[in-house]
Amino acid sequence: MGHGKLRKFAENETFRCLLQPDASQVLDKEPGSRELKLRDHAIKGRWGRDMFGNDHPIVLELGCGKGDYTIALALRHPEINYIGVDIKGARLWKGAKYATENALPNVAFLRTRIEFIDAFFGPGEVSQIWLTFSDPQLHGSENSRLSSPLFLERYRHFLQPGGIIHLKTDSRFLYEYTSAVCNVNGLQVLASGIDIYRLGLDQVQPILGPGPILPPGPGPSSMPCSSLKALFVGPGPEYDVQAVFEVQTFYEKMFLEMGLPITYLAFCIDHDGPYAFPGEAFDADFWLEAEGPRRSFSHQPNKK
Ligand SMILES: C[S@@+](CC[C@H](N)C(=O)[O-])C[C@H]1O[C@@H](n2cnc3c(N)ncnc32)[C@H](O)[C@@H]1O
Repeated sequence: MGHGKLRKFAENETFRCLLQPDASQVLDKEPGSRELKLRDHAIKGRWGRDMFGNDHPIVLELGCGKGDYTIALALRHPEINYIGVDIKGARLWKGAKYATENALPNVAFLRTRIEFIDAFFGPGEVSQIWLTFSDPQLHGSENSRLSSPLFLERYRHFLQPGGIIHLKTDSRFLYEYTSAVCNVNGLQVLASGIDIYRLGLDQVQPILGPGPILPPGPGPSSMPCSSLKALFVGPGPEYDVQAVFEVQTFYEKMFLEMGLPITYLAFCIDHDGPYAFPGEAFDADFWLEAEGPRRSFSHQPNKK
């Protein structure tokens, strides 16, 4: 391991905003078996009190990488607490260092595998989840996609009723897969778009209660929202649709420079009973073909 990375790992230990539990803190061996069982971490249900010192809403970014998006959203909404989650310590270092040096009170980072996420958050503790440029897992197991029924089941344990999941991705495959998961489970889709910077959003549902509807037309930034049919602005800043256009992640900027379309889907996971898998409702072969060869270089899961 290079000196740079060792230095970052050492510095990570000093950041109060960065929680880096050992796997042993959330995994127990089942007595008499080799199976591992997830157990609650001490912070579960206590982020507001122990990390932020307030009871403001909590929004997660899963697979936050260097934390650019988490930080940008937190600067935009000081009344919301943001937690970026990733497994790569050298990437999290950047966000945690920025948050520490700038004394940002509403930012934290959690270094863990997202597979363990429900060990860290209690029922209703989280109001929204961002999945930003998640690895689409084109050839891997469906269960490793962060929007698969298996992950939705995990999120359901701690996402508030009516809580929103935002998926922002360059991968049309992941977007279509997630749309299919929503369809087969009858999940409410709040907004969607297959090329948001050129075409805007196709659909925005006013589910959060009465609020002003913005007419179609350019948004406050110069981003083209011209095909936006109606833009719902909820009662608070929690569903900040404009942020979708105005804030970009590290990977997103890279893909935009390459001229690639960015897709977006916002949905609720309120649902009775187990989530169904899309099965044949998702034509994986078709969307894999459509994805093209760029996948091989756009996501580099093994890079630290
Ligand atoms: C393609 S990068 C996107 C980073 C950032 N969201 C952005 O858009 O710039 C995907 C990130 O997800 C993280 N990641 C993928 N699967 C993960 C998992 N199961 N648990 C934790 N982190 C994961 C990777 O470490 C990586 O930093």
